[in-house]
Amino acid sequence: MPSLPQNRPEIIDFLADRRSSPARLMRAPGPNAEQLETILTIGARVPDHRKLAPWRFIVIQGEARTGLGRVLGEEFGRENPDTPQDRIEFETERLLRAPLVIVVISSPVNCQRGTPKWEQELSAGAVCFNLCLAAQAYGFGAQWLTEWYAYNAAFCNKLGLKKDEKIAGFIYIGRVDEKPGSRTRPNIPEITEHLS
Ligand SMILES: Cc1cc2nc3c(=O)[nH]c(=O)nc-3n(C[C@H](O)[C@H](O)[C@H](O)COP(=O)(O)O)c2cc1C
Repeated sequence: MPSLPQNRPEIIDFLADRRSSPARLMRAPGPNAEQLETILTIGARVPDHRKLAPWRFIVIQGEARTGLGRVLGEEFGRENPDTPQDRIEFETERLLRAPLVIVVISSPVNCQRGTPKWEQELSAGAVCFNLCLAAQAYGFGAQWLTEWYAYNAAFCNKLGLKKDEKIAGFIYIGRVDEKPGSRTRPNIPEITEHLS
């Protein structure tokens, strides 16, 4: 049963200084099976107009990262014919940066009538961020990336994306040894209008 809203200063502190960690700084071990299940469950616990659950996950770990990485290398070379071999190798190894990558796929349904596609896609974004929050709350580094391959048709086909589906993000998760530095944040008064 959800609890009544209550004051949770430790959660405010966590949210106030939480940061993403670069995927290149991640290492094993990633979440164990139980943590992964909780992270996915929290990921799916997001606002979702009309309870459509218009998103799905692909969890990439272990050897699957190598097989999919080969597609990344081939596709990068095809898209950029003059690329040097060391860059192709870098692209081939992208998924190996972290022990775990969760692909969040926006999978909108019944867009003609009912919840607008835009709202369903927004909900997929909320999923991505909830996954990051859950992983970070476990003490892992997490980063939401799209990079070039979220938009590469061959890679999307390889992952089995259907018509109208899009990759909302690759959520990289792993151990990190460095605390991420701070970064400039928006000036709240500049972006906020108060009406009263
Ligand atoms: C949809 C989306 C796609 C992103 N794709 C990339 C990317 O391809 N490369 C990158 O360096 N950062 C990307 N980012 C930004 C990273 O998530 C970055 O770590 C984040 O903005 C840092 O913010 P935080 O420390 O407040 O979590 C993306 C962010 C979003 C929301």
